[in-house]
Amino acid sequence: MLKNDQLDQWDRENFFHPSTHLAQHARGESPNRVIKTASGVFIEDRDGNKLLDAFAGLYCVNAGYGRQEIAEAIADQARELAYYHSYVGHGTEASITLAKMILDRAPANMSKVYFGLGGSDANETNVKLIWYYNNILGRPEKKKIISRWRGYHGSGLVTGSLTGLELFHKKFDLPVDQVIHTEAPYYYRRADLDQSEEQFVAHCAAELEALIAREGADTIAAFIGEPVLGTGGIVPPPAGYWEAIQAVLRKHDILLVADEVVTGFGRLGSMFGSDHYGIEADIITIAKGLTSAYAPLSGSIVSDKVWKVLEKGTDENGPIGHGWTYSAHPIGAAAGVANLKLIDELNLVSNAGEVGAYLNATMAEALAGHAHVGDVRGEGMLCAVEFVKDKESRTFFDAADKIGPQISAKLLEQDKVIARAMPQGDILGFAPPFCLTRAEADQVVAATVRAVGAVLG
Ligand SMILES: Cc1ncc(COP(=O)(O)O)c(C=O)c1O
Repeated sequence: MLKNDQLDQWDRENFFHPSTHLAQHARGESPNRVIKTASGVFIEDRDGNKLLDAFAGLYCVNAGYGRQEIAEAIADQARELAYYHSYVGHGTEASITLAKMILDRAPANMSKVYFGLGGSDANETNVKLIWYYNNILGRPEKKKIISRWRGYHGSGLVTGSLTGLELFHKKFDLPVDQVIHTEAPYYYRRADLDQSEEQFVAHCAAELEALIAREGADTIAAFIGEPVLGTGGIVPPPAGYWEAIQAVLRKHDILLVADEVVTGFGRLGSMFGSDHYGIEADIITIAKGLTSAYAPLSGSIVSDKVWKVLEKGTDENGPIGHGWTYSAHPIGAAAGVANLKLIDELNLVSNAGEVGAYLNATMAEALAGHAHVGDVRGEGMLCAVEFVKDKESRTFFDAADKIGPQISAKLLEQDKVIARAMPQGDILGFAPPFCLTRAEADQVVAATVRAVGAVLG
């Protein structure tokens, strides 16, 4: 096909890009890139540049790019039945099979899957279900949702409120009143540098207790958290964190939503982050890895405890007043079935655990001595490098210096490796597809060392 020379102009004139500096983009001051094709861990733009995508899109192409098995399943489904709705008991072979496959993999207390399209709408569903749940239980005051600073749960009205990042609130009149925030389990950024990990965990639990006491437990419905903080900085929790938090929640009869949009289906080397950290959630949010992003699909996995109340609610009030036209879309469901099969067949969850551990260890070793690398951390196929002005005193760079974005730009320019400059702090994030090989991990580490050297010496 002939290259369309107007594409750049069309893009800048017509396309409203998410999470983009709109004015700079429209004026042509920031780069745009048109992606054309992809295979394995590599994507290729229309100028023929081949880039190693060490962030799997937006940590979602878990099975890797170019999987023909998933593409075929999508094409077959589109030919046979592109769409039918799932209201009033309708379904398709793909959606019913996928619900069964998810429940087979989910923690034992889980009961049903509601399907949505993306992580944001799944979390919106969760909040509505939680409010419904407490209304049915006769507790209309118990409605607030606690989230953590630096948590990421989407960018809708309630989910953008749950997201504990300033950029997602500023000038949007968020957070809404029903959402409140507590301390992030971010040991490296603890306020008191003298605290041990154990003391810091106790501090997080005490902060949560204090918040609940201030607000009143009878006003708080649920707590939502990612097993590993993702967009807020890729931060695995300190040892004992989830145990301590769950003890507080149980004491006050507060539901727990595990947002597994990033961690679900293998990213930590376990099927779910809940298994990995001993989290007993009441609802689990899934999206990204469910289809490896070959088609949009998300889900809310609802526990037996919550489900029973929802059933009671419909006996009392009639059909549940919640649903999207595209809930359980057959094309998304077919992609999900093919993707989960492939993940099993290729042992991609254990590869994520093994190669992820290798990536983390080699990254930590390669950057250990660098004066401006304050922390290298990760879990499974998630890794982050955090930069500081002064390591000893843990002084951070000024945000205006844009050290993180500079390093990710250098990585791309010098070695054609994509890592993500995380939005709050000078943090370089890695979340490659699960099929990453050790040789590719070496390539990512070597490129990172060169980029860090080029920007920070
Ligand atoms: C943990 C988590 N929850 C929810 C979302 C929102 O998902 P989506 O962007 O599909 O709406 C994301 C997106 O990155 C996420 O990381």
